[in-house]
Amino acid sequence: MGSRKTSWAEPFKIKMVEPIKMTTREQRERCIKEAGYNTFLLKSEDVYIDLLTDSGTAAMSDRQWAAMMLGDEAYAGSRNFYSLEEVVREYYGYKHLIPTHQGRGAENILSQCMIKKGDFVPGNMYFTTTRIHQEIAGGEFIDVIIDEAHDPSHEHPFKGNVDLQKMEDLIKKVGASRIPYVSLETNVNMAGGQPVSMQNIKDLYHLCKKHNIPVMLDATRAAENAFFIKEREKGYENKSVKEILREICSYTDGCTMSGKKDCLVNIGGFLAVNDDQLCLKAQNLVVVYEGLHTYGGMAGRDMEAMAQGIRESVEDDHQAARIGQVRYLGQKIKDAGVPIVLPIGSHAVFLDAKKFLPHLDQDEFPAQALAAELYVDSGVRAMERGNVSAGRDPKTGKNRRPKLELVRLTLPRRVYTQAHMDVVSESVIELYEHRKDIRGLAFDYEPENLRFFQARFKKK
Ligand code: F0G
Repeated sequence: MGSRKTSWAEPFKIKMVEPIKMTTREQRERCIKEAGYNTFLLKSEDVYIDLLTDSGTAAMSDRQWAAMMLGDEAYAGSRNFYSLEEVVREYYGYKHLIPTHQGRGAENILSQCMIKKGDFVPGNMYFTTTRIHQEIAGGEFIDVIIDEAHDPSHEHPFKGNVDLQKMEDLIKKVGASRIPYVSLETNVNMAGGQPVSMQNIKDLYHLCKKHNIPVMLDATRAAENAFFIKEREKGYENKSVKEILREICSYTDGCTMSGKKDCLVNIGGFLAVNDDQLCLKAQNLVVVYEGLHTYGGMAGRDMEAMAQGIRESVEDDHQAARIGQVRYLGQKIKDAGVPIVLPIGSHAVFLDAKKFLPHLDQDEFPAQALAAELYVDSGVRAMERGNVSAGRDPKTGKNRRPKLELVRLTLPRRVYTQAHMDVVSESVIELYEHRKDIRGLAFDYEPENLRFFQARFKKK
């Protein structure tokens, strides 16, 4: 057992493999040009190591594949719905389950049910799809994360925390009646995969209760957040990820979930709530946008695989290996002096593109340019999380120029090996040595909504 104490070795062995192929630099130069220097527009076949996202990219276990065979594809009342409902009640603790095709489906329903025109929706940093649904429903997103979260080098252990003073100030300014709920994200994606502490969740919940404001959790990476609480928060060292996850949810009134992350499935999501009236309203909308309330856009087999994925996601060993691999990659890159977001988060290593490419203005999209160059160098696909993702301010029409201008090297769960991580770090380090040669980008085509997905660029 001695070696298990420090090793994060994976608690699984590999039963099936999927071949990947290395391309030549000339091929990759052509591919990225054809993709308008946007890694979202590359064909996956032309990618060697795909670190675009941890969303829907996990390897399922043999037990999950076996669960797929138990699919009951009835239009109404599939047994897999009841099985998922039971698991969500046991592991997350919410009373009602409304399945959706993925996270943004749940965000749409929640936003439509709760937000009125002119409302304010506070949250601990925006997420792209979450904010756009809040805006479409007539709300305005207000960032109430602690200031440290916007500083890539600040090593606060719970950089995802809500600033309770900012919350109180907002309540004072606009009144609780114009705040339909607080959107609380665990392991804040845009901040670099940074956790929220249990104390902060508890304090937020009590503050909100006083003003009758519900707390809605974005539980997409809540199990990963639970692991950080176990490691870093006093009093939780001997609790399991499973117990901690349940406690997190107990200080919230419901959640939206992208099952494509923590839950270890390739597609699916849900909305879960405790309030009976809200559940009825959501069930009434889910039939408009997603499907009947007992499948909500998911196949029966996918609901069963998700139920099994949830059971696996709270295993302490699973999270230790998951987060251990991210840290292995991050540490190698950091040790070479490359600027990254600290502390290293749960699902990705984030390169600080502002510090990496100080010769570029933020409107030349340094993170977008760096992600394109990384692909050309080694066939590794990453994602921009900076000025392109942040979009334009609807009031001024200007680029939002967020403080964080990042390239995200996102690790799919249970997919790549330590040797793959070595390839990635070598390529990043080599690019850093040649960083002065990297040029900026300008828009060739800029879509109106969530522009980062489909935008095209040209080299400056
Ligand atoms: N909330 C968070 C925190 C997310 O990271 C995502 C998706 C969603 C909601 C939306 O869920 O994709 O299932 O509709 N994040 C992916 C990513 C796309 O790459 O970070 P979805």
